[in-house]
Amino acid sequence: MCGIVGILGQHQVAPILVDALKRLEYRGYDSAGIATVNNGLLDRRRAVGKLVNLSDVLVHNPLAGLAGIGHTRWATHGAANEQNAHPHACGPVTVVHNGIIENFRDLRETLSAHGYSPVTDTDTETVAMLCAHYLAQGHDPKAAVQATIAELDGAFALLFLFEGHENLMIAARKGSPLAIGHGDGEMYVGSDAIALAPMTDQITYLDEGDIAFITRDGADIIDATGAPAHRDIQRIEAQATVIDKAGHKHFMTKEIHEQPVVLSEALARYAPNGIPALPEALDFTKFDRILMVACGTGYYSCLTAKYWFEQIARIPCEVDVASEFRYREPPIAPRTLAIFVSQSGETADTLAALRYAKDQADMIVSLVNVGTSSIAREADLALAILAGIEVSVASTKAYTNQLTVLALLALAAAQAKGAIDDHGLASHMKDLRQVPDLMRQTLKLDNDIASLAKTLAPAPSVLFLGRGVMFATALEAALKLKELSYIHAEAYASGELKHGPIALIEPALPVVVFAPHDRLFDKTVSNMQEVMARHGQVMLITDAQGRASASDGTHSLLELPATGDLSGPIVYALPAQLLAYHTAMAKGTDIDQPRNLAKSVTVE
Ligand code: F6R
Repeated sequence: MCGIVGILGQHQVAPILVDALKRLEYRGYDSAGIATVNNGLLDRRRAVGKLVNLSDVLVHNPLAGLAGIGHTRWATHGAANEQNAHPHACGPVTVVHNGIIENFRDLRETLSAHGYSPVTDTDTETVAMLCAHYLAQGHDPKAAVQATIAELDGAFALLFLFEGHENLMIAARKGSPLAIGHGDGEMYVGSDAIALAPMTDQITYLDEGDIAFITRDGADIIDATGAPAHRDIQRIEAQATVIDKAGHKHFMTKEIHEQPVVLSEALARYAPNGIPALPEALDFTKFDRILMVACGTGYYSCLTAKYWFEQIARIPCEVDVASEFRYREPPIAPRTLAIFVSQSGETADTLAALRYAKDQADMIVSLVNVGTSSIAREADLALAILAGIEVSVASTKAYTNQLTVLALLALAAAQAKGAIDDHGLASHMKDLRQVPDLMRQTLKLDNDIASLAKTLAPAPSVLFLGRGVMFATALEAALKLKELSYIHAEAYASGELKHGPIALIEPALPVVVFAPHDRLFDKTVSNMQEVMARHGQVMLITDAQGRASASDGTHSLLELPATGDLSGPIVYALPAQLLAYHTAMAKGTDIDQPRNLAKSVTVE
């Protein structure tokens, strides 16, 4: 989603701001802009589309100044055009914003009575108008920002710059994260530390409700009550902010190929001696049921884990998408462990769902990839999935690492509940420990998968089928294909085929079937045959045993190594990812930043 940067520097900031914004590109955006204060005056440049367009504008119309703020916008209120691009300005103040100001219409009405009229469709402009209004009433910038923030409803991160103040930026956090960077006679602000990486590794994260008054000498922070607050300066590991494609054409392929390594790291952390070793605080004997909540790909990892928790640990498990869960406000039974899964740790709906569950569930555990995120901080226990920075908007290695940590949780639960004996545990662990190798073998099939993708690329629609744990894999595969190639895709539990979707079957519809040779294989094959009997084009993804018994009549087939109950959905995620990747390559779509998508969805 939107990216924010700010610099009080010793050098011309415009090129440095654009560079910092480039490091936030991965979040997804559709316009960008920067503003500086120079000789006391504010000025700004904005452009629709990629940052290269903003750079072009700056070549023809440079922007001077040693203090500036910048923004990449992911449109929420109003179209992606130059007028709606940030920074937004009103009189002596300019502001960039991530999040949503929910009461902006009411504020607009109040402000119109004072002679302020908006020139954009955005909620953000209202913040600039409100702050300008308080400045006009004689408040200094600090008081004006405090008065402004007090009137805003919603979740946001804001950064202000003022006419006549070349040594002041004011940052405010409520709902969306902000990092303050400390330099040598310079200070920085970023949506995350990645944006600031070339400039500093000394970072202060703002807490909920904080406002920071930043000069080149440092930051004075007040908390939500207005009291002075101390926030530590943390040193960020250089490795944690490295963003490069390591010779790959896209971040997505780099991240797909990193999976065997990062998955091994998760196994080493959570099963160092070959058996699950989770924090003692997580005592499964205290829980009778599990609730899992997430969005998108994270939701599919939870759906997969439901099978594991129920089949292996025999614990009833409920899974929901966060946007539904939070407003359904379901009762949460006693002795419930609530697990929230989020790569970014900032997804607005998942965070709201976590807050809803907080006083009701016995324990809140989060699985996150960003240890400093809100969802990590607000949980009783945060488990890092250790996937490393995921830059591609489409999630890949975070998904398989989420699955790995969830698999270990399910085994730990099974052990604690006495649902599994030593032999059973050893055999599941053996299965899990072979995943990095199975992944490496699967990645060698990249060229075969690229050929299969040629079948999908011209199709207007694709159907994915799977049973049991493979149902969630089918859902994830459909999501990946949609987001990367913009081809309509649907996924069904194979057994549901006859209850409606079979009407879609015709020769032009590719039907991708995920079917390892497991105990449900024959059932899935029956469904596949129903498709073939209607001249549907079946692409079967299976193993050697599956190939031997069911390849007849399929349009195409991909043979993966043999997998087990835990390794299956993790390994089969790779062809799902690579099929989407190669189909997108064939179609020429924007792979790392698909249209309309954002990496960290910090608005509802
Ligand atoms: C799809 C994808 C999204 C995210 C979803 C939740 O490839 O990345 O569906 O999984 O937006 O994001 P997190 O995990 O950050 O809460």
